[in-house]
Amino acid sequence: MKIEGKNYRTIWFENNEIKIIDQTKLPHKFIIKSLKTIKDAINAIKIMEVRGAPLIGATAAFGLVLSIIEKNDSSFLKKSSEDLIASRPTAINLRWAVDRMMKKLSGVNNNDILKIALDEAKAITEEDVGFCKNIGINGLKIIEKIYQKKKDVVNILTHCNAGWLATIDWGTATSPIYHAHQKGIKVHVWVDETRPRNQGANLTSYELNEEKIPNTIITDNTGGILMQRGKIDLCIVGTDRTLSNGDVCNKIGTYLKALSAKDNNIPFYVALPSSTIDWNIKDHNKIPIEERNPEELSHVEGVDEHNNIRKVRIYPQKSKSLNLAFDVTPAKLVTGLITEKGICEASEQGLKGLFK
Ligand code: MRU
Repeated sequence: MKIEGKNYRTIWFENNEIKIIDQTKLPHKFIIKSLKTIKDAINAIKIMEVRGAPLIGATAAFGLVLSIIEKNDSSFLKKSSEDLIASRPTAINLRWAVDRMMKKLSGVNNNDILKIALDEAKAITEEDVGFCKNIGINGLKIIEKIYQKKKDVVNILTHCNAGWLATIDWGTATSPIYHAHQKGIKVHVWVDETRPRNQGANLTSYELNEEKIPNTIITDNTGGILMQRGKIDLCIVGTDRTLSNGDVCNKIGTYLKALSAKDNNIPFYVALPSSTIDWNIKDHNKIPIEERNPEELSHVEGVDEHNNIRKVRIYPQKSKSLNLAFDVTPAKLVTGLITEKGICEASEQGLKGLFK
């Protein structure tokens, strides 16, 4: 997708380095950063220079390439894979990408391993672009149906950033929106700010602006009244881990939005590539929920009058805070799952119907 009219992807590999767009600096500064070592890749995932389930998976895959360049040794590679998986616990794509890479590299001799690793990491990114594009084509049908009935702007609410910046290109939740816009359907997006890291305000609104899609940032608590007053036709969100029973783990606050949508009879869709499905865990209480530094709540970051990024404390110094990064929306609140293979019910039957 575009930034200042130029097409970008969120990650690529060049001259033995990973190139990323540093998302901790957006929307204030657009910086392309090089990751040169496996440590750099792990750190970028941890501090969220890259974030979003598919993108951290791709970063981990290229991270293993860096590990091989650094030291072509099987125990170093194994340690790198373990450290990558531990860098963020909730999004399943990270483990999925590392497991896929390690399976591909198992038994490969030292002379061939680098090329095979690089090819596989590139395949993961290309595949994700295709998945997200198809999510858009499939999800477009939902928006089209509402537009045909309403014959006016379709108002869509989204939470966090499940846009192209969270993937390689297109995004998941945003892909149907981009496809609708390209088809000439009038859309307007209500963007949940998404405290504490403000992925909605900082990233989703930014990328929609760059694609010239009308959008309005709202606080995370505003969705309810807008739904009651008929200002939202549809919700589409992303997911970090979808269980085979259709339960969806996504950015903290998603659950409350789904409850409100149910109470107001508003369709609530979740968009995901199959790499986000966890076929193993059956009980959502077993999903590891990432707890991040409370400083992400107690401090806010922005630009001052000289355009310098500054951080200030907003909480009383003695107060404690809890920073859970994700919550779970039970399948019964989800209208449907939009995947690369089609739209299905949020249930084991629905998912297995699409993914044999
Ligand atoms: O903590 P983040 O910013 O990595 O969380 C991202 C989300 O919750 C997204 O909705 C999810 O990864 C889906 S991305 C297509």
